[in-house]
Amino acid sequence: MERTFIMLKPDAVQRGLVGAVITRFEEKGFKLAGMKLLQVDRTLAEAHYAEHKGKGFFEPTVTYIMSSPVVAMVWEGKNVVALARELMGATNPANANPGSIRGMYAMDISRNVIHGSDSVTSAEREIGLYFKPEELINYRKVGDEWLSE
Ligand code: CDP
Ligand code: MG
Repeated sequence: MERTFIMLKPDAVQRGLVGAVITRFEEKGFKLAGMKLLQVDRTLAEAHYAEHKGKGFFEPTVTYIMSSPVVAMVWEGKNVVALARELMGATNPANANPGSIRGMYAMDISRNVIHGSDSVTSAEREIGLYFKPEELINYRKVGDEWLSE
C-alpha cells in the first residue's frame, strides 16, 4: 500500500492543531503507520528541504521547522500521496481551498501548518529521513474492508 510522509509543523503544535489535523487524515480513511514528536536539527532540516537550497525562502523555512517540536507521521492508503496533498491544500494558504487543512487553519505561506510529500519518490526519501524501518508498523485495522473494493 502507498505511503506518504506528513509533518505537522511547529505552528501546528504551538497552536494546538495536532488533534484536528490528525482527525482529518483518520476520517478520510488513511491508516497511521508511524508517528513521533521531535525537534528537527539543522542537518535534518536542510536535508528535508534540500530541493529548495539556494532559493530565498530556504533559510527562513529551515529555521522555521527547527524552531519548536514537530509531529512526523507516515500515513498509508490508496493514492495517499496525491490525496494527502489535496487534503492539505495549496502551499500558499491564501490560495488554498477553504475546506483544506491549510485553507482552514492558515493564512500565510511561511506558517502553513503541514508538510506532505509531493510524489511517491519524495515520500520514500522523506520517510527514510525521519523513520527507521522498524518504526513503521503494518497492521490490520477494523473497517479496512469498507474503504475500497
Ligand atoms: O510544502 P509544499 O510542498 O506545498 O511547498 P514547497 O514549494 O515545497 O515549499 C516548501 C515550504 O517552504 C512551504 O511549505 C513553505 O513552508 C515554505 N515556502 C515559503 O515560506 N515561501 C515560499 N515562497 C515558498 C515556500
Ligand atoms: Mg514541497
